[in-house]
Amino acid sequence: MSRLLTSLTLAAGLLASASASAVEVSISCSALGKEYEICKQGVDAWAKKTGNTVKIVSTPNSATERLALYQQLLAAGAGDIDVFQIDVVWTGILGQHLQDLTAKGQSVVGQHLPAMVETSRVDGKLMAMPWFADAGLLYYRTDLLQKYNRQVPQTWADLSETARIIQDGERKAGKGDFWGYVWQGRAYEGLTTVALEWIASYNGGTIVDEKGEITVDNPKAAEALKATSGWVGTITPEGVLNYTEEEARGAFQAGNSAFMRNWPYAWALAQGGDSTIKDKVGIAPLPKGGADGRHAGTLGGQLLAVSKYSKNTDAATDLVMYLTSTEEQKRRAIEGSFNPTIVSLYTDADVTKASPFIGDLRDVFTNAVARPASVTGQNYNKVSTEFFNAVHQVLSKRSQAEQELNRLDRDLKRIKRNGW
Ligand code: GLC
Repeated sequence: MSRLLTSLTLAAGLLASASASAVEVSISCSALGKEYEICKQGVDAWAKKTGNTVKIVSTPNSATERLALYQQLLAAGAGDIDVFQIDVVWTGILGQHLQDLTAKGQSVVGQHLPAMVETSRVDGKLMAMPWFADAGLLYYRTDLLQKYNRQVPQTWADLSETARIIQDGERKAGKGDFWGYVWQGRAYEGLTTVALEWIASYNGGTIVDEKGEITVDNPKAAEALKATSGWVGTITPEGVLNYTEEEARGAFQAGNSAFMRNWPYAWALAQGGDSTIKDKVGIAPLPKGGADGRHAGTLGGQLLAVSKYSKNTDAATDLVMYLTSTEEQKRRAIEGSFNPTIVSLYTDADVTKASPFIGDLRDVFTNAVARPASVTGQNYNKVSTEFFNAVHQVLSKRSQAEQELNRLDRDLKRIKRNGW
């Protein structure tokens, strides 16, 4: 009896202390496709496990608008959001407002993809934990390639030709709003990732090289922009100039395009029960600039960071460690085709079964092209904004590729002045 009483008293004490220390943590999650729902499931599981509660703050879909919101909140020292989902290219820009996670993360970060760990550090300190990795991919309709007897395109010239053939055929068959190729063409961060792929695939460099030299004004880059701007209004709808990831996915998933450029998340949705193109989709590396070009997918992805202004640092850090753990990354890979950052999951049978491309396209992820974010540091967003605006001008036929790259070079030099 007395033993029972002791354990009851102990249990009551434990409960009291758990609820006394239970806190509410808020996290910003993206809401692209199923992302919000999948974030919520993970967050709810952590809340149940720890007794804490979590508030999810949804954020704009456009990376550029999301960054502006974060900068506004953090510059004001606002503690409204404890955990931020941040883009791989923002660690340098936001680092001053984030907690150093080195002490908590150091022992596990070695399990993650080195390129993703690289994007999480500022001056050697771990300012975020890698959550999922992205790389630009080519989505194609397997049924249509078969119908028109075409192969998966290896160069952009092949893609244009195949897109045109399928588009003409489908339109003749009565699909008036059918297009060859959809991608992200709005003037925002997404266009930087897309245009970097074009330029890198023509061996035209990465805007700014690893040493910090501005390289974007070169004939290969001009050739890339000339070729791709020719698509707008021919194999690509003019509306693409205002497309982000979700508008491109909407067109492709509705069965209105033969090809699409997008990130891995679109796979789980294209293969979803309500998708009109289920089991008619393939994924391949993006085409090369020409026979001597290369397959180039931009490295993207998201990290989780704890705000310096959080009043619940311990709980917030614990949530970050939980969401970035092997178990949770595996669940997210299976449910939402979010590419893990934990290396061992790339050979996990359940993961590769749900998203076959994760194993098949390993090279795309390991050789993904990085944006010049670390080398330009605090200036990255300015560099990217100048770049996507310049590309948008060329795509909208307001200016010629050579002329625009020359102007961009001058503007980037002005931003760089004596160093980044
Ligand atoms: C995805 C990528 C991110 C990129 C963004 C551009 O969210 O993960 O790295 O900046 O798309 O739209």
